[in-house]
Amino acid sequence: METFLEELGLLKEQGLYRQMRLVQGCQRSRVILDGREVLLLCSNNYLGLADHPLLKEAAIRAVEKYGVSSGASRLVSGTMELHQALEKRIARFKGTEAALVFNSGYAANTGIIPALTGKGDIIFCDRLNHASILDGCLLSRAKLVRYPHNDMPALQRLITANETTGRRLIITDGVFSMDGDLACLPELVALKKEFDALLMVDDAHGTGVLGTGGRGTSEHFDLLPEVDIQMGTLGKALGSFGAYVAASEGIIDYLVNRARSFIFSTSLPPSVLAASIAAFDLVDSSEGALLRGKLASNVTLFRSALCSAGVDTMGSETQIVPVFVGEPQPVMDFSRFLLEEGIFVQGIRPPTVPAGSCRLRCTIMATHARTDLERAIDAIIRGGKRVGVI
Ligand SMILES: Cc1ncc(COP(=O)(O)O)c(C=O)c1O
Repeated sequence: METFLEELGLLKEQGLYRQMRLVQGCQRSRVILDGREVLLLCSNNYLGLADHPLLKEAAIRAVEKYGVSSGASRLVSGTMELHQALEKRIARFKGTEAALVFNSGYAANTGIIPALTGKGDIIFCDRLNHASILDGCLLSRAKLVRYPHNDMPALQRLITANETTGRRLIITDGVFSMDGDLACLPELVALKKEFDALLMVDDAHGTGVLGTGGRGTSEHFDLLPEVDIQMGTLGKALGSFGAYVAASEGIIDYLVNRARSFIFSTSLPPSVLAASIAAFDLVDSSEGALLRGKLASNVTLFRSALCSAGVDTMGSETQIVPVFVGEPQPVMDFSRFLLEEGIFVQGIRPPTVPAGSCRLRCTIMATHARTDLERAIDAIIRGGKRVGVI
């Protein structure tokens, strides 16, 4: 016990200690935090669907009809009608032959990657990919080659230098979760073709948001059929919970037989499945298009005002808008200052991001009011001057 407490003490000294904050009520654009109303500027509920009436009604109806639990893993007795309905809905949405749901994005990445690769194979992984991807790569026992962020010439050199008779898997975030920039998808597709590799895109932050139909990063680049393994999450823009992979029938069948986080875990419950189906219907509707439009205009307002004031938003191209600070202590001071101003935004520190690149990770929602965003912009500019980053 002593050693754990010593380590915690060290984290506190280094400004790296983490604590959970209690949010009361629904995940709306304003929330009650520790008893006080604040503007929520750090949620992935990008379209505001987490308390949408259609999702809530679908979940309630599913509980009444199917109960609260699936009772087992999918290959035992836990495959219910709603699992099949959701997977069909996702495949239709993504234009793939098939889809499979997982219990979370973390479970998807730590299940899919070790299923598709093993000893003798090579994984090429962007340095800024999400931790769950890295953990999936480490579990696979394949050779792991991490390429510098979005550096396509470097990736080409590394693929050439690392020959294999096994499989090659290139894997990238679609929208990088802490930087808000996009993968270089056209170049990645060209490289996958040149080297006969599989391409996997984790579109946790692109699904529902990017592309005219909200189909994600690959729709944004008009490359939907070119991505072999399209993974995404249901707990962010879709406002529900869980994750999916959309791919060919062969790959999905293979994952059913090989992905350990799928095989050895109780499946998603009916309420979550029904809410997810309602979320895809909504994202696909005119209301979904309106919400994406509102989100895009909120993002433009927020990011352009910060950039004009001299804030470094680290190349963000999406609703994830980082504010670069550098070291842990000033980023936490900045976050505390904003909370005093009634704005809830988290400071992001190592190991989530590389040392020296601490940042505030601001996330914009379609449901943010313009006046609230203007208030946040003003406070961020004042805070940035206080901590010396403007
Ligand atoms: C890029 C990326 N992949 C995967 C995940 C994990 O998804 P989940 O929260 O559903 O476990 C996240 C979570 O933030 C993410 O940002």
